[in-house]
Amino acid sequence: MTTRSDAPAHRGPLPDAPAHLCPLPDASAFLGPRSAARSAGRAGSVLRHALDHGLLGPRQPVAGFLDTDGIETSVASLHAAFDTVPDVLHTFAAKAASLVPVLRLLAGLGMGCEVASPGELRLARDAGFPPSRIVLDSPAKTHEEIAEALALGVALNADNLDELTRIDALRPAGCASVVGLRVNPQVGGGTIGAMSTATATSKFGVALRDPGGRERVVDAFVRRPWLTRLHAHVGSQGCPLELIAEGIAETYRLAEEINAVVGRRQITSLDIGGGLPVNFDDDEVRPTFDDHARALRAAAPGLFAGHYALVTEFGRSLLAKNGFIAARVEYAKQAGGRRIAVTHAGAQTATRTVLMPGAWPLRVGAFDPEGRPRTGPAEPQDIAGPCCFAGDMVAEGRELPLLTEGDWVVLYDTGAYYFSTPWAYNSLPRPAVHGYTLDEDAVRLAPVRDAQTLDEIAAESGARHADRLLALARPGR
Ligand SMILES: Cc1ncc(COP(=O)(O)O)c(C=O)c1O
Repeated sequence: MTTRSDAPAHRGPLPDAPAHLCPLPDASAFLGPRSAARSAGRAGSVLRHALDHGLLGPRQPVAGFLDTDGIETSVASLHAAFDTVPDVLHTFAAKAASLVPVLRLLAGLGMGCEVASPGELRLARDAGFPPSRIVLDSPAKTHEEIAEALALGVALNADNLDELTRIDALRPAGCASVVGLRVNPQVGGGTIGAMSTATATSKFGVALRDPGGRERVVDAFVRRPWLTRLHAHVGSQGCPLELIAEGIAETYRLAEEINAVVGRRQITSLDIGGGLPVNFDDDEVRPTFDDHARALRAAAPGLFAGHYALVTEFGRSLLAKNGFIAARVEYAKQAGGRRIAVTHAGAQTATRTVLMPGAWPLRVGAFDPEGRPRTGPAEPQDIAGPCCFAGDMVAEGRELPLLTEGDWVVLYDTGAYYFSTPWAYNSLPRPAVHGYTLDEDAVRLAPVRDAQTLDEIAAESGARHADRLLALARPGR
């Protein structure tokens, strides 16, 4: 559900409503001044379809939705931006949407998969990615995880020099895995500290600018002829393109230096990570993958010259704008002069926004119980979640038409790192996720993940061991 650089934003009235529904008022006014109506129109169509088909309602008060055509367009724009590079593997960062059907869709679109845990590796394999198209990154790989990746032939990027020593011991003869080393070019952070991976003190990679850091990296390559990849992920949200490009350019220069020192092109590929930031203010995709490629080309022209195969690891920029959360307004109340809509989407599904509201503001759309855009004068309202802590607020003082019980709120741009990776706080169930396509007036939906049941919640909460602590209790105490 994105507006691509090659597909101008729909700025007029909403797209035609499905034939069986009433004509819709323009919802763009309720999304904020810089928003376009496109996402509201599309989300409204999907919302009404989901309501009509019982996928949302009083008993299914929250769900995530993913636009599969939008994902396809996003992937195509990524491929197009790098199409002059002779050898490039675009992997999807599984953490951004760790859902098997999504990963399988992406595999079918020619993507590889970047994984950062045994769980993500399992999902990638279940989705059908061959080991040769999987890259394992994680700062805390155990001996066992390293051995498994090497046995499978999955590529891995060592996070530090001690991990390389483990790999020395574990690497089997004839190992098919490409092995790389992650470096931290220490070019600085962006506006969100928690998302900045190339600060002086970042936990990721070998710190290149620390005293002796660069020399230790060069030496690690000199002593390991099989170490053939350099990796840097400089991001992510909140980082300017120039900063990301500077970090990748530094990594490129280091690869050239290492190859010069060893006297052959030992490093054959560069994994330039992901990290392209996403615009959460309106429908426009900016920056685009083209913008990113331009910035990279300006900082390191050799990157596109075919001297190195490239690997990328984008997550948020591929999925965020292709998804939304719909949540029912359970109550509309007032306290201290503030209007509060209590909804079913809070910290359990919009975790980042609730815990760091300044860093992750989301656009909110208002819809009536039938899924039509709410009309009426905008009034400041708090959009609260269902969790039992006072800060469970998705938005505060947001200007929206007055929400009442049974209405729906839509949280836009939540296709990555939101409903796919919920938080288990309050034992709230993981919400269902549905994929959709929307052609003119036809919505088609497919299941991605079922809503978690109470039995499943009980099972993951130790129900099987219910009596075990009683067995520890000492009689007489
Ligand atoms: C190593 C690595 N690669 C790729 C990504 C994906 O980043 P983004 O979703 O910002 O593209 C991350 C995000 O944390 C990461 O740590």
